[in-house]
Amino acid sequence: MARQRIAVIAGDGIGQEVMPEGLRVMKAAADRFNLSLSFEHFDFASCDYYEQHGRMMPEDWKSRLEGFDALYFGAVGMPERVPDHVSLWGSLLQFRRHFDQYINLRPCRLLQGVTSPLANRAPGDIDFMVVRENTEGEYSSIGGRMYEGTDRELAIQETVMSRHGIDRALRFAFELASTRPKRSLTSATKSNGISITMPYWDERVNAMATHYPDITVDSFHIDILTARFVMHPDMFDVVVASNLFGDILSDLGPACAGTIGIAPSANLNPERRFPSLFEPVHGSAPDIFGQNIANPVGQIWSGAMMLDHLGHAEAADAVVKAFEAVLAQADSAVITPDLGGQGTTETLGRAIADRLV
Ligand code: NAI
Ligand code: MG
Repeated sequence: MARQRIAVIAGDGIGQEVMPEGLRVMKAAADRFNLSLSFEHFDFASCDYYEQHGRMMPEDWKSRLEGFDALYFGAVGMPERVPDHVSLWGSLLQFRRHFDQYINLRPCRLLQGVTSPLANRAPGDIDFMVVRENTEGEYSSIGGRMYEGTDRELAIQETVMSRHGIDRALRFAFELASTRPKRSLTSATKSNGISITMPYWDERVNAMATHYPDITVDSFHIDILTARFVMHPDMFDVVVASNLFGDILSDLGPACAGTIGIAPSANLNPERRFPSLFEPVHGSAPDIFGQNIANPVGQIWSGAMMLDHLGHAEAADAVVKAFEAVLAQADSAVITPDLGGQGTTETLGRAIADRLV
């Protein structure tokens, strides 16, 4: 197989601490399974870069990255130095939009050795995937302000729901549901209150469902759906949602499955016209940066999703099994403080990489 090129962007804060552990595990997996992967590091999409150059990324970022097979990303943001909307819109959101990463995929799985904040939940009870539409919906740039600074001041921001945009996200979610044993799909809606775009979303769900007769489909309004995530996380398999609803659910889901430090995500361009991006769900955690205590599992699990996307299912599976085994062992000298241990980012990363040898 030809060599696959991965662009590595650690970004800010603990992104710089968890990325080396992600790479350690990726390299161990590549050795074990004879994968030909190369890693090229980039210092942009960080607040350090911003302070030197007055922008988050160089002007030619797109041409520099678009030839890569995948982007392996840490986290971005240092709110005391650069406002969050500047750092986020100047980097991560550019990737999502210009590389048409229209699926944001987040597995939510309660693992052995990790305590759920929900009472009486055991591994096996929580195992679902959130599929978020990542390019349109409520997060549009259509709108504006009028009569600024007067009593009539107003702001409008329009939701964009296109047939193309909804259908491609739904198709991905239905296909994903087809590969899972439960064969069930839940749609997040709010067609009672949002009476134009959300009934349209529902209509497209029903239309897509006719192509997948063996998938059980249900639909909940977003308000009761969030309650059900907490009360009955065991009832979900694949959950599909618009950009805003998916944003909320894809933080709530991983939170129900324990520490945010382990949650992974993929921003996918399923057609592979552009590189997809793999990153932990967490941010740059300035509060613990510099202490070497950040949990690297979110970065490592995201790396497993990347291997899978690159066609290395067996290696991806081995990485998942490796961190599952290390977490299940719960050796307090190895696991990080968020999991109740006294280990470091590095001890946990090394323990996982060692399992792959
Ligand atoms: P955060 O995820 O960075 O931190 C939230 C809390 O979780 C903190 O107490 C932190 O210490 C803890 N935490 C996060 N990751 C952890 C890990 N791996 N191990 C152990 N504990 C961990 O979210 P916050 O504080 O809201 O944002 C901080 C910065 O990160 C902001 O600039 C924000 O914009 C940015 N951010 C970036 C994201 C990205 O790059 N995709 C996603 C979320 C936030
Ligand atoms: Mg979010």
